[in-house]
Amino acid sequence: MDHFVSTSILAADFGNLDNDVSMVNESVADWIHCDIMDGLFVPNISFGFPVIEHVKKIAKKPLDVHLMIVDPDRYLARFRDAGANILTVQYEACTHLQRTVTEIRNLGMKAGVALNPHTPVALLKNTLPYIDMVLIMTVNPGFGGQSFITESYNKIADLRKMIDDGGHKVMIEVDGGIDTTNARKLIETGVNVLVAGNSVFSSKDPCETIRRLKKLE
Ligand code: DX5
Ligand code: ZN
Repeated sequence: MDHFVSTSILAADFGNLDNDVSMVNESVADWIHCDIMDGLFVPNISFGFPVIEHVKKIAKKPLDVHLMIVDPDRYLARFRDAGANILTVQYEACTHLQRTVTEIRNLGMKAGVALNPHTPVALLKNTLPYIDMVLIMTVNPGFGGQSFITESYNKIADLRKMIDDGGHKVMIEVDGGIDTTNARKLIETGVNVLVAGNSVFSSKDPCETIRRLKKLE
């Protein structure tokens, strides 16, 4: 399977969001990654429903919504109504994870679970039958532009083995510090979806950077 690129609009220009979303529309990016931060689960606040609803109106690609919020169960239906196609919750924020991911699927979305850098992949072994994607956080969540944590390669390899050995149909997404220097090794280690924020929007030619992440150049 060819890998996907999900462009994180956390790094976009919010004064000119339409421009940046149009650029992603015209690019070879597969998904648009939307980071929701509540100032509790992570020490930062990003954006909420009105922004997602607006992006949904102009986006030509599926919305990959990453919730970095406590008690996400309160808002699953609202994120679906706002336009989320894939909804990812943080493992560390869920007390009844199987219930949460089942509800996400029942609402008609793909269900993802994100793991913080300190959370072992083995904790997801019994959840793999109920989800579509695991998001390995390759930085501590909360901010764009941080450095990639290299221990992530071991986690990805372990997770790849767990998924394949169990015969599960679960994608592996990575998020944080992804750029054209580590993309190829990540895909070779077993990743299916690359999230990229700063490496795209801070580059001279964002559309070309997305193309390089897709072609692994
Ligand atoms: C970090 C967010 C990421 C962020 C990635 O907490 O979950 O999605 O936008 O940004 P970069 O690619 O700049 O590390
Ligand atoms: Zn994210």
